[in-house]
Amino acid sequence: MSNIVVIGTQWGDEGKGKVVDVLAETARLIVRFQGGNNAGHTMVVDGETFISHLIPSGILHPNKVCVIGNGVVVDPGVLIEEIQHLRDRGISVGPHNLLISENANLIMPYHKLIDHGRERLKGNKKLGTTGRGIGPCYEDKVTRRGIRFCDLIDPETFRQKLSSILGEKTFYLKEFLRSETVDETAILNEYLPYSEVLRPYVANVSVSISQAIKAGHHILFEGAQGTHLDIDHGTYPYVTSSNTVAGNACCGAGIGPTQIHGVIGMVKAYTTRVGRGPLPTELHDEIGDRIQQRGAEFGATTGRRRRCGWLDTAVVRNAARINSLTGLAITKLDVLSGLKNLMICTAYRYKQDRLTEFPAALRVLEECEPIYEELPGWPDDITAFQDIDDLPENARTYVKRVEELVETPVQIISVGPGRKQTIVLQDPFSRLPV
Ligand code: GDP
Ligand code: IMO
Ligand code: MG
Repeated sequence: MSNIVVIGTQWGDEGKGKVVDVLAETARLIVRFQGGNNAGHTMVVDGETFISHLIPSGILHPNKVCVIGNGVVVDPGVLIEEIQHLRDRGISVGPHNLLISENANLIMPYHKLIDHGRERLKGNKKLGTTGRGIGPCYEDKVTRRGIRFCDLIDPETFRQKLSSILGEKTFYLKEFLRSETVDETAILNEYLPYSEVLRPYVANVSVSISQAIKAGHHILFEGAQGTHLDIDHGTYPYVTSSNTVAGNACCGAGIGPTQIHGVIGMVKAYTTRVGRGPLPTELHDEIGDRIQQRGAEFGATTGRRRRCGWLDTAVVRNAARINSLTGLAITKLDVLSGLKNLMICTAYRYKQDRLTEFPAALRVLEECEPIYEELPGWPDDITAFQDIDDLPENARTYVKRVEELVETPVQIISVGPGRKQTIVLQDPFSRLPV
């Protein structure tokens, strides 16, 4: 048995959904531990595309159990839609294969209004959030005013908690944000039926995970967003409102750190970012446009165009340390095919200094110039290759160089969105527990 965490090393959208779907084959439980429906995880199976926002990316496999951990913030309406959408496409989803932590916080209508209202008020200083109410929901969780699933399934408690918080929310929405407000009856009419639909899914997921561990099953923890969107370790304040790093798999699922045996860092072969904030290797030229187009870099949640740039190994190295990565999964290598030369950022120039570590201060980061190393590209289409030895030599050199610069072995190379377009160099589950 080994338990593996998959996290993003960059700014999200590294292809976590694809790799989790591939690795789910070996796991019994697939567990989301943070974030909410700000995430958009894409799985492509037999040419069919599925995008998941809340349900873990193991759901397409029969005989697996998907778990939404206590660290996730859940918009119940979106979750119900997602369940229905999967069923409409012939995927079985029910309490037999989907569990929701009773401790998970609910995204409420006022969270979404606050998210939108604050962005509007900030004007051109906005963060570029997904507008899903993620930040305001985590805020209520931390200030102990959140409403959880255990409250939702107990209508009396739900009514009481809602009623006690609405005065303050209404005041803030109306008087400060000058936004539309919420109506108590309307919320009750919307949420109490959710309670009926979702009650059978609500469980003590810490117990379920612990039982699976005792039974000797492999467990896969699926991160959302990426290390540089982490509330503590990211490019603050241009971050999301949760800890996206591997350490949070424990807090967000209800297990201890001794149960984690490996951490896979997802690395897109170049860099993208959606929303605002620094991106040192961003390209504002035709190469950036080419990567954006070939990589179809549009947000899976909001459809926004993703900003693109060269691979930044100062970023990935930072993630390797923060997450104690045991392996890397490089995705979208195929998107780089056809470029004559490829640049890899190895460090930054800041005034007279060479910085090898990712700086915390936004002002410093914004003034950093990437220091690049140039590698030769390859003309070949690599999307059908199944073996590392089939890859053009320059593609292998590129992967090898990433491995050296990040000081972490590459375990998986992805050469296309489909399940089969995956070269597994080392099965992450085959590592012996530490
Ligand atoms: P996630 O949020 O980390 O799960 O990533 P997203 O699903 O938001 O974005 C990744 C996008 O790249 C999706 O459209 C995937 O289908 C696609 N993708 C994943 N791996 C590969 C790959 O190796 N090559 C190509 N061309 N596309 C890929
Ligand atoms: P996955 O899991 C990329 C970004 C938003 C914004 C910032 C804060 O698909 O990789 P939020 O709504 O979370 O308060 O927005 O974080 N963001 C993501 N960017 N991929 C994601 O998820 C993201 N989730 C949030 O664009 O810049
Ligand atoms: Mg995504």
